[in-house]
Amino acid sequence: MRILGIETSCDETAAAVVENGTRILSNIVASQVEIHARYGGIVPEVASRQHLLSVIPILQRALTEAGVDLKGLAAIAVTNGPGLAGSLLVGVNLAKSLALACDLPLIGVNHLEGHIYANWIEEEGKNGLPEFPLLCLIVSGGHTDLVLMEGHGQYCQVGRTRDDAAGEAFDKVARLLGLGYPGGTIIERAAKGAQRPYRLPRAWLKGSDDFSFSGLKTAVFQMTRDLGIADESATSQMVIDLAAGFQEAVVDVLVTKTVEAARRYNVKQILLAGGVAANDELRQTMIQRSSLPVLIPSSILCTDNAAMIAACGYFRLKAGKTSGWDMDVKPGLRLV
Ligand code: KG4
Ligand code: ZN
Repeated sequence: MRILGIETSCDETAAAVVENGTRILSNIVASQVEIHARYGGIVPEVASRQHLLSVIPILQRALTEAGVDLKGLAAIAVTNGPGLAGSLLVGVNLAKSLALACDLPLIGVNHLEGHIYANWIEEEGKNGLPEFPLLCLIVSGGHTDLVLMEGHGQYCQVGRTRDDAAGEAFDKVARLLGLGYPGGTIIERAAKGAQRPYRLPRAWLKGSDDFSFSGLKTAVFQMTRDLGIADESATSQMVIDLAAGFQEAVVDVLVTKTVEAARRYNVKQILLAGGVAANDELRQTMIQRSSLPVLIPSSILCTDNAAMIAACGYFRLKAGKTSGWDMDVKPGLRLV
């Protein structure tokens, strides 16, 4: 069963064909990062227009690479939230038109659910599929959620960020340090050159599975003033050591709290999902500190893509959960 996935929720225009929810036949992503980098962040109207320009060529490439035409598909899955309204509209409108023209089922997919289902995609060197019950840490630009899953499509949110999302903190701190955009990959690269990472505070929020990163961001801000990073009297080594100290603090909190919650909820596995799960320090530390198996998609499947939307769409289709023509975009859509 081949499903076409379409993803345009933020600044990546993506289309993919996935077979039986697990096997990628094609996975095409056009990133707008360079376009938005000159503004230091995503400009929503620029993002929508860029999706409009890219979406058909990306769709054509995904179908060609998969060696299927529209008639060979079982359904069309598309992200309908959360995300930027104008960006979501481009993908949803295309998906509806294709589904109508080809008489195919339409499946609206929650972007966060898509991130989780990247873990069902078969990849080289991966040992098996996820097993329930499991605990998934979703860490993206807009979300930091701990989700307990007892079965397909069954989510119980046990923790979330009370302020900034982890990815948002990476992006804001990179800007504070004058390292540019997008923050996650830049901080990760910078941190590799650290000599003595600064020790920064951690918000443990004891007794709760929630997270908080705004205090850490403020601590970095104060350090940039104390060290003279804002007026450029600091050395680049200081900036690197501060970036590394920040990354260490985020990873320490994410891993410690996830491992502890997984033990308490007595799950079989820990899953990682979302753009920040591309971070090697987070991936390695989670594996080292967890006594349970840890499943993490390859980095390319952690950041935004359409294969994860198609994979999720397959399990939704199997459960008979398709969408009607009244499906709208939902910028603030929640998982639960
Ligand atoms: O899942 P994603 O691609 O888009 C959203 O759904 O938000 O996540 C994007 C976020 C950005 O904040 C970006 O800085 C962060 O993921 N990110 C990283 C890395 N790659 C992307 N954060 C830390 N380390 C990385 N290697
Ligand atoms: Zn995402």
